[in-house]
Amino acid sequence: MSFLRACFVAFLACVAVYEPCVRAWSKEGHAMTCKIAQDLLEPEARHAVQMLLPDYAKGDLSSLCVWPDQVRHWYKYRWTSPLHFIDTPDQACNFKYQRDCHDPKGVKDMCVAGAIRNFTEQLSHYHHGSSDRRYNMTEALLFLAHFMGDIHQPMHVGFTSDQGGNAVELRWFRHKSNLHHVWDREIILTAAADYYGKDINLLQQHIQGNFTHGIWSSDLATWRKCSHISSCVNKYAAESLEMACKWGYKGVESGDTLSDDYFNSRLPVVMKRIAQGGVRLAMILNRVLAGDSLEMDETLAAT
Ligand SMILES: *[C@@H]1O[C@H](CO)[C@@H](O)[C@H](O)[C@H]1NC(C)=O
Ligand SMILES: *[C@@H]1O[C@H](CO)[C@@H](O)[C@H](O)[C@H]1NC(C)=O
Ligand SMILES: *[C@@H]1O[C@H](CO)[C@@H](O)[C@H](O)[C@H]1NC(C)=O
Repeated sequence: MSFLRACFVAFLACVAVYEPCVRAWSKEGHAMTCKIAQDLLEPEARHAVQMLLPDYAKGDLSSLCVWPDQVRHWYKYRWTSPLHFIDTPDQACNFKYQRDCHDPKGVKDMCVAGAIRNFTEQLSHYHHGSSDRRYNMTEALLFLAHFMGDIHQPMHVGFTSDQGGNAVELRWFRHKSNLHHVWDREIILTAAADYYGKDINLLQQHIQGNFTHGIWSSDLATWRKCSHISSCVNKYAAESLEMACKWGYKGVESGDTLSDDYFNSRLPVVMKRIAQGGVRLAMILNRVLAGDSLEMDETLAAT
């Protein structure tokens, strides 16, 4: 099967270049982010998304939201690998560090914040029917949807020195894991198992209930506020860094066992980030696919 082959190739690629296999929100986290977003699309953006999705997605954006994780180690897409995270120095928690957006070789804009600006800009041409033929609009949509999830996962803005928590090995209840994976997946799966009979759809509906008429309903307008895409992505990254410091790394050391205390206190943070990622992805799609440029930087547009 091609999916298995893709996994195998990805595995070989990781081994070959000794690159840590940093991952994003698990497929569950990304799928929830994308489902929340798709449910909030207005007619024009909804139609555009339908047109951009390949037939085999059957109109479901969430089915392809992990595609960027699947291809990042393929030769053709290797350039996208640094776009899943932001390099952050260890002292960032003490100094409110201004993060630089670059890849490990120092190429500017090659980080998750730059990627969101890039693919938002590409998609903004769709509305005018002037799509630049250099760019594949379907891929721009899938990358944007995925990276909006990633930038909201606090450990994707975690420290470079421990690969966003990937190098912090620990136990999650009884099994081996690492701090990055705890935030990508463990908390979500434990919540689904403990409270929702392992039904991720039910979990997602509860998240949606909490912003349509629950605890976050009065925050929605603030979450959506965005006049300039560059400052918005910087804000999302700054929020993630603050959460990584306050909740992710706080009190955790390699070799620890994380269980109920950590789970109960971090679960609300994870749920909120998934909600925010989905709401904001919808906000961007509703606007750019209806012709609002979100005041894109000319400089980036030109590159
Ligand atoms: C923007 O996307 C294009 C391909 O679509 C790519 O060549 C370029 O490196 C990307 N830049 C960033 C900052 O993501
Ligand atoms: C755009 O990208 C998708 C996903 O990689 C691919 O299936 C499709 O053939 C591409 N379209 C064009 C016109 O290249
Ligand atoms: C929704 O909000 C309630 C508090 O009103 C909270 O107990 C619950 O955990 C939240 N659920 C999710 C999935 O965010």
